[in-house]
Amino acid sequence: MKSKIFIIEHLEPKLWPWCIIEYKHISRTVRKKNVWFTNIKKSDVRKLEKYGKVFTQSIKSMRLENPYLLDPEAKQTLTPENSRPFQYFIFGGILGDNPPKKRTQAELALFLPNAKIFNIGKAQMSTDNAVYVVKQIVNGTPLEKIPFQDEIEIKLNKIESTILPYRYALVNGKPFYSKELINYLKKN
Ligand SMILES: C[S@@+](CC[C@H](N)C(=O)[O-])C[C@H]1O[C@@H](n2cnc3c(N)ncnc32)[C@H](O)[C@@H]1O
Repeated sequence: MKSKIFIIEHLEPKLWPWCIIEYKHISRTVRKKNVWFTNIKKSDVRKLEKYGKVFTQSIKSMRLENPYLLDPEAKQTLTPENSRPFQYFIFGGILGDNPPKKRTQAELALFLPNAKIFNIGKAQMSTDNAVYVVKQIVNGTPLEKIPFQDEIEIKLNKIESTILPYRYALVNGKPFYSKELINYLKKN
């Protein structure tokens, strides 16, 4: 079986530090050799080369064979069975927004007519969480067996905290996010 490729189509106007933190986390989660970053500005290519294969080209013009797109708005849910035969899994490199703006549908699904589109539940996850969950499903764990927490509170200092209103997979009981993200939030 060919190894699965996790493709992140960057759709933010800039490569924000938060995006780089998530992309690095994705690379650690599924290994650099299995990650592609597409639609990256020439001037940003070097910033991501450590984390995966980088393309300035958009996935919309790559014409891959049988790609899967992950979109919270999809009608069908990804399962170990329906994910097995295919190699390419496309995700929006989109930061979370509350309420969700359905950008995956508007900016990706409409431009990928040959993609099969799946959700991993209806709740919005960060891109790194979505990649982690798809990896678990592809490796045989159905969505209903993956533990989640909706909304997390990050303590910034003794007094202040911030809420991230998204769905997080729990790994050994802890929400799946990188330490770097927490440090970034504390500093900013
Ligand atoms: C933060 S989400 C973006 C959601 C965004 N608010 C939107 O309007 O589409 C980033 C990416 O993670 C993936 N994703 C997150 N939650 C998902 C879900 N429940 N089902 C399928 N894909 C999901 C999608 O590929 C999405 O483009």
